[in-house]
Amino acid sequence: MRITIRDLLAGKITENSEVTVMGWVRTRRDAKGFSFLELSDGSSLTTLQVLVGEKLFRSDILKNVHTGTALQIKGLLLPSLGDGQKWEVRVRELTVLGIADPATYPLQKKRHSDEFLRSIAHLRSRTNKFGAILRLRSQCAWAVHDFFRERHFFYVHTPIITGSNCEGAGKMFKVTTLPTGDRVKDDFFGKEAALTVSGQLEAELLALGLSQVYTFGPTFRAENSNTLRHAAEFWMVEPEMAFANLGDNMDLAEALIKYVVNTALNEAREDLALFNKFVEPGLFIRLENILTDIYVRLSYTEAIDILKNVHYNFKFEPIWGMDLQTEHERYLCEVHFKKPVIVYNYPATIKPFYMRLQDDGRTVAAMDILVPKVGELIGGSQREERLDFLEKRMDELGLDRQAYWWYLDTRRFGTVPHSGFGLGFERLLMMLTGSANIRDVIPFPRTPKNLDF
Ligand code: 4AD
Ligand code: MG
Repeated sequence: MRITIRDLLAGKITENSEVTVMGWVRTRRDAKGFSFLELSDGSSLTTLQVLVGEKLFRSDILKNVHTGTALQIKGLLLPSLGDGQKWEVRVRELTVLGIADPATYPLQKKRHSDEFLRSIAHLRSRTNKFGAILRLRSQCAWAVHDFFRERHFFYVHTPIITGSNCEGAGKMFKVTTLPTGDRVKDDFFGKEAALTVSGQLEAELLALGLSQVYTFGPTFRAENSNTLRHAAEFWMVEPEMAFANLGDNMDLAEALIKYVVNTALNEAREDLALFNKFVEPGLFIRLENILTDIYVRLSYTEAIDILKNVHYNFKFEPIWGMDLQTEHERYLCEVHFKKPVIVYNYPATIKPFYMRLQDDGRTVAAMDILVPKVGELIGGSQREERLDFLEKRMDELGLDRQAYWWYLDTRRFGTVPHSGFGLGFERLLMMLTGSANIRDVIPFPRTPKNLDF
């Protein structure tokens, strides 16, 4: 039976045992009469040193063994004599599972640029850096589920295809089976359909029956902004809590971030160390701070006041009533406070229809969490649970009440205060790794004019 390199290095096998390992050759180093192979199977960042002795070395089996070749190896597990390695395998039997022609195999031992790796996303899972990202991504997804399960939230599945727009007009991908020009009533659903931008509205419906739910799935936005922080397809974690106000919402969000950071530091430390070394020296310190700091909580109005009074050349002037730009968000958390910041009570005019109006009549119970390296990581709010306020707001925005009859029904029947938020999963991974480009934390990123693989 095959054993993974991860299990092997973790000491699950005793020395002098016979093992079968399969993986891809990272490097081959020949010496007089023998050869060292560095083998990776993706199970951990650490590779396995494989020693090919004289007999096999002299046969022509090594002829096809180069960087990228897939191998099966049987041999003895022995303590390694070289440094940096605890174990090595002395090969008794070697089988080439798949060749990789060195003349055309695009991955070589040297470090490749992120741009280049993006162009070969079908192979980049074999690199140290992308392997680390993918293992971390998996670890963090589990951490999200663990977090909510420990708190007795139910994991619900909200629709991907939707007939409503959660966040406001103009950002949705249409779903249709019609040739262009045909009438909507002849379309598959008999009405306009789109890919969801957020599972929130449906999560609200479910929270108003189950009290505490979360959804964690893909969301889609046709924003034509080719930034380093936006993808057309990204994953969002969206909890929704009945009987909870904005403060409860902030508490939950802060706890979630800390929980995932803690898990990553403990369970994916080896992979994170790669980023600490090559991407952002000081990453571990920054993450420890995110774990232990108490996040600043300040109102949007206070945030604008701070931004107005600092001597800093923003590209966009901070003005009350305008949305915070990424440069403002990053200034607040990276320069001014040097820790995550929760900004709440934004002007109603720049936020979607469902947020609860505050007593001042001009701000809503919104909260965004801004973190170093990323800016906005989380966007959430207490929801408008009062039917009359909600209807008034929808009318002001020109939203068709009829189209949201089901949403309004929850305010007609047993409405309660409730709150929730959305955390951008890729942004979380950017925060955890110091990666500057969202394309480097997604296996197959979808961005404007980019739909390979
Ligand atoms: O702030 P947003 O738009 O909030 C919502 O969609 C709410 N309905 C969530 C809720 O209350 N349930 O998006 C939430 C988060 C952002 O803070 C950001 O981290 C991420 O989703 N996000 C994106 N991530 C990558 N690419 C994009 N185009 C993103 N747009 C938003
Ligand atoms: Mg937002």
